[in-house]
Amino acid sequence: MTRYDLAGRVAIVTGGLGGIGRAIARTFLAGGAAVSLWDRAAGERAPDDLAALGDVAARQVDVTDPASVAAALRRDLDAFGHVDALVNNAGILGPVAPSWETPVDAFRRVLDVNLTGAFICAGAVVPAMLARPARDVGGAPYRGAIVNVASIQGKEGMARASAYSASKAGLMALTKTLGKELATDGIMVNAVAPAAAETAMAQQITPERRADILSRIPVGRFVTVEEIAAAVAWLCSPDCSFTTGTVLDLSGGRATY
Ligand SMILES: NC(=O)c1ccc[n+]([C@@H]2O[C@H](COP(=O)([O-])OP(=O)(O)OC[C@H]3O[C@@H](n4cnc5c(N)ncnc54)[C@H](O)[C@@H]3O)[C@@H](O)[C@H]2O)c1
Repeated sequence: MTRYDLAGRVAIVTGGLGGIGRAIARTFLAGGAAVSLWDRAAGERAPDDLAALGDVAARQVDVTDPASVAAALRRDLDAFGHVDALVNNAGILGPVAPSWETPVDAFRRVLDVNLTGAFICAGAVVPAMLARPARDVGGAPYRGAIVNVASIQGKEGMARASAYSASKAGLMALTKTLGKELATDGIMVNAVAPAAAETAMAQQITPERRADILSRIPVGRFVTVEEIAAAVAWLCSPDCSFTTGTVLDLSGGRATY
């Protein structure tokens, strides 16, 4: 796989202890970046397998809590000096039930983590990115990138996943909005929309639902976490200097728009 030269770059990966977050962290570390894992489940120590790969910190963060996010950012700025990339990857699936049987509190919680959490993290990190002078990349200012991990379900909707689908659709709209707001500041803001990947999240669904999801993917398999990480790494590299406010599908041919 292509390795991007990310030496000297600092990336925050929310939900960094999960299946996709770890893969993104591994890819950034392989490129020479320092990585801060923001995860509700984090302890004070980064996992040994990631620490063996490079400079990695773990912060216990609840992305829905602005104070928790601000405290983690302060620690990262103290430790690393700056932030070049934010990957809003923390997410929860929520209830798998018809919309009308989904408890309001559960619906709100999914939107809070998957959508408001990304809004809070971007709101904290963007001012820190803007405070740093832009670099010149091909004659244009470049400061860094934000990548929001959405889902193909946000484009299509998915029966029995109203909160999840709505949260990911909202995340795509937030991506496009931030992309427009930051377009001349050299901060590229994009989303990825993966189909299903083999992680703890995918293990929460029944075999029947899993077969149904697989049947919708034309290439006939789930996306790997490494394939997602490779796309995120490109979006966070200075090679991605013009593409902003977009959604990159990783759907094995499922997405039709
Ligand atoms: N696995 C899939 O099939 C799939 C497909 C498309 C998109 N996604 C998206 O990819 C992202 C990562 O999912 P994954 O499959 O790695 O799931 P995962 O369950 O393995 O990891 C999610 C991580 O997010 C953390 N997290 C949850 N709530 C948090 C909060 N409030 N604050 C901080 N951290 C929190 C969890 O502790 C966990 O480590 C999610 O946004 C998910 O919606 C997953």
